[in-house]
Amino acid sequence: MADTNTTAGMLAGVPTGLLIAGTWRGSSDGGTFTKLNPSTEEPIAEVSAASNDDVDAAVRAARTQFENGDWAKLPNVARGALLNRLADLMERDADRLVTIQSLEGGQPLTEPKMLDIPMAIETFRHYAGWADKITGSTIPTPGYFGHPTLSYTRREPIGVVAAILPWNAPAMIFSWKVAPALACGNTVVVKPAEDAMLNVNYLGHLIEEAGFPPGVVNIVNGFGEKTGAALARHPLVDKISFTGSPEVGREVAQVAAQSFKRLTLELGGKSPQIIFADANLQAAVQGSVMGLFANQGQICAAGTRILVQRPVYEQVVAALSGAAQSVRLGDPLAPETQMGALINKRQLDRVLGYIATGKEEGARLAAGGDRGAGRGYFVQPTVFADASNDMQIAREEIFGPVGTVIPFDDAEEALRLANDSFYGLAATVWTQDVTKAHTLAAGVRAGSVWINGWGAIDPRLPWGGFKGSGLGRELGYAGIDANTEEKVVTVVL
Ligand code: NAI
Ligand code: MG
Repeated sequence: MADTNTTAGMLAGVPTGLLIAGTWRGSSDGGTFTKLNPSTEEPIAEVSAASNDDVDAAVRAARTQFENGDWAKLPNVARGALLNRLADLMERDADRLVTIQSLEGGQPLTEPKMLDIPMAIETFRHYAGWADKITGSTIPTPGYFGHPTLSYTRREPIGVVAAILPWNAPAMIFSWKVAPALACGNTVVVKPAEDAMLNVNYLGHLIEEAGFPPGVVNIVNGFGEKTGAALARHPLVDKISFTGSPEVGREVAQVAAQSFKRLTLELGGKSPQIIFADANLQAAVQGSVMGLFANQGQICAAGTRILVQRPVYEQVVAALSGAAQSVRLGDPLAPETQMGALINKRQLDRVLGYIATGKEEGARLAAGGDRGAGRGYFVQPTVFADASNDMQIAREEIFGPVGTVIPFDDAEEALRLANDSFYGLAATVWTQDVTKAHTLAAGVRAGSVWINGWGAIDPRLPWGGFKGSGLGRELGYAGIDANTEEKVVTVVL
C-alpha cells in the first residue's frame, strides 16, 4: 500500500505517459503538461501530451488488435473473464483509486469511496456478464419469390472506439465507455480529460496487469483541441463516445458526420427537482442537497433547478439554505470534509461568474455566494431563491455548487417549467401521490426520472439524455446496442 501522507506516495506507480500498444511512452515530440492539485493549486504531475503521430499510433494499435490480433481471436467467455479480472484488481486497489480521485479531482474522499469506484467496479462486472450473452435473433418473413427463407441477425463489434472522457467522474465514466466496448469485442483509444487523467492512467496500468492483449486499450493524454480533436477525426476510428460540454459535443458530432462514425454524446443538464407540498420534505431537502453539492456540483445529473410548490416554498428555501451553510468545506483528503474544490481556475471563474449573474438578474442569494478562504478553487455552497426559469442561472449549466429555487403553483406549471429547458438529462419528483408522481414521470422530457430520490444511477439502467443533453444511451443493454452493429443474414431455402 502506498504512503498516503504525501502526494508522491499517493501517486507512486501511477503512469504519466501514453499507453500505446501495451507500452507506456512519452510523446513523440516530447510535449508535456502540468496537472495541478485543485485544493492547493500546486503541481502534482507532469503528463505527456500526445502528438498527432501518437494518436495515429494508438489508433493503429487498436485497429490491428481489432482486425486480426489476439483480441479478435479471443472467445467471448475469455473477454468476460478478463473484464472480471480487471474488476478484481480494481477491488484490490479500491483505496488507491479513491485517494487518487480525491487528490486529482478535489473531491472529498467519501464520494469516490461510496459512489464512483464501486460503480466503476460494478460496471466492469456487469459487462463481464454480458460478454457471452450478446445474441442475435431469428426473424420469420413471408419468404423470397415463393421460396422460404431463414433470416437471423448477428451483433458484431463496431471496431475502434474513441472514448473521450470528462474530468468530473473519470474512473466511472471510463468504465461506462470501456466496459461495454470491450464486452462486445471492440478495441478502444481513451482520451482522458486534461484535468483528471491520473486515475485513468492507473486503470491503464491495471488493464496491463489483468493481461489484456497490448493495444486493446490505449490511452492518449493531452488537450482536447489537439489530442482529442486528432482522435475524433482519425479515419480508422469507427465510433466516438463523448461526455462533456454541448459546445465540444457539437464539434465532435460534425467531425463524426464526415465519415458517419457511430456516436454517443452525453452533454450534461439543468435537471429539475420538483418538490410538491405533500412530499416527505426532510427526504426532499436531503436529496436536493446531495443533487446540488455532491462533487461540488460538477455532475451532469446535478439537480440544479429546485422547483417548489408554494405552500412549502419558504420552508424548503430555509432548509436548503441551512443545509448549505452547514456543509464542511475543506481539504478533500480530510475524512471530515463534505465539500472540496472545483477542478480548475477556469471552472472557478465560470461558477463565480454565474453567481454574479444571479445577483444581477435579481435572484435572492439565500446561502453562500463567495469563494472559500485561502488557496484552492473552493466555492461556498450557494442557493439562489425567488428565481425565475428565464434567468440565465436557471437556463445554463453552471457545473458548480449553485442551486436555483423557483416556486410553482400546481403540477401543470411544474411540468411546464421542468420541460422549459435546452437540456433533458434527468429529473426528480418528490411527492407521496402516485398519480402525480407517474404523471410527471411520463410528462418530463428527460432520460431518467427519479421519484423520491436523486441520482439512482446503476450500470444495469440505460443512461443518456433527451434534447440538448445528448444522443444515444450508455449502460445496461443500451451499452451493448451502442457498441455493436446489427447484421442480417438471409438464406433462401
Ligand atoms: P469539454 O467538453 O471541453 O471537455 C470534455 C472532454 O472533451 C475532455 O477530454 C476534452 O479534452 C475533450 N475535448 C475538448 N475539445 C475537444 C475537441 N475539439 N475534440 C475532441 N475532444 C475535445 O469540457 P470542459 O471544458 O472541461 O468543461 C466545460 C463545461 O462543460 C463544464 O463547465 C460543464 O458545464 C460541461 N461539462 C459537462 C460534463 C458532463 O458530465 N456532461 C463533463 C464535463 C464538462
Ligand atoms: Mg473545454
